[in-house]
Amino acid sequence: MTIPRALLLVILGCFCFCSSVLAARELNDDLSMMARHESWMVQYGRVYKDAAEKAQRFEIFKANARFIESFNAEGRKFSLGINQFADISNDEFKATKTNKGFIPNKVKVSTGFKYENMSIDALPTMVDWRTKGAVTPVKDQGQCEGIVKLSTGNLISLSEQELVDCDVKGEDQGCEGGLMDDAFKFIIKNGGLTKESSYPYSAADGKCKSGSTSAATIKSYEDVPTNDEGGLMKAVASQPVSVAVDGGDMTFQFYSGGVMTGSCGTDLDHGIAAIGYGTTSDGTKYWLLKNSWGTSWGENGFLRMEKDIADKKGMCGLAMEPSYPTA
Ligand SMILES: *[C@@H]1O[C@H](CO)[C@@H](O)[C@H](O)[C@H]1NC(C)=O
Repeated sequence: MTIPRALLLVILGCFCFCSSVLAARELNDDLSMMARHESWMVQYGRVYKDAAEKAQRFEIFKANARFIESFNAEGRKFSLGINQFADISNDEFKATKTNKGFIPNKVKVSTGFKYENMSIDALPTMVDWRTKGAVTPVKDQGQCEGIVKLSTGNLISLSEQELVDCDVKGEDQGCEGGLMDDAFKFIIKNGGLTKESSYPYSAADGKCKSGSTSAATIKSYEDVPTNDEGGLMKAVASQPVSVAVDGGDMTFQFYSGGVMTGSCGTDLDHGIAAIGYGTTSDGTKYWLLKNSWGTSWGENGFLRMEKDIADKKGMCGLAMEPSYPTA
């Protein structure tokens, strides 16, 4: 049986028409993606050295935008969004914003857990230390960790720069995001940290300026028992607590709001502050955390992560190494 020539032409015509429509749509998608990339560059002040770099960054931007769109189409409890990290790959993100080399403390000077005998049933159902004036504004610190000073009752933004500059004896790895315990040890040894107005933050490793006067001191710190979200709840109900998380996943890179439910690993590589907890209207329990990647990341620089999950290590390992300064 032979196919009539007319039918063959119709089929062929259809095929050509359809594929040109598809090609046109692809071109259209690329053009609108290019426009998005351009306006993103303006918004974040990004400048590339030449057309080749721009083309390379555009491909990454496009791949990230597609990832974000398909993730958001899944209808999860949290969403992702284009932010300042939109033109870097996840490998670049991990290399610059987190610290995989993060070595947990071998020598612990921490003693006890002063909140151990609190009753979980007696704790408030919702805590947000921002409403009590105990949390300083979100900064964009690279991976340098902020310390919240609570014991004086004053709202002082302590100098992270001093911590970066002066705590370089292998303990806090300069700007590489050392563990919170190391930062606390430094503050104890140094006799305090300077008030930020007299030691401003410049987000790069600089030279340690000696002779600065301390605005606040930490005498010691304590660790929350490891892998115990109940213990963490007692501590966070009492004061902000530093936690370490695995912040390297794309869900972390592009988190834009809601309760983060993973996926993420538990290779601790990023320091963050737990400043509260609560329950959403749909009954999801969460930790409220303060990040240090500026206010265009997450919920104005803050993040919520699922609380009391089956894995004792907590979401992204947040229950593995929490610690807090004691006055
Ligand atoms: C908690 O209670 C036990 C038993 O009464 C006691 O030995 C321990 O010292 C208490 N811990 C604190 C931090 O008060």
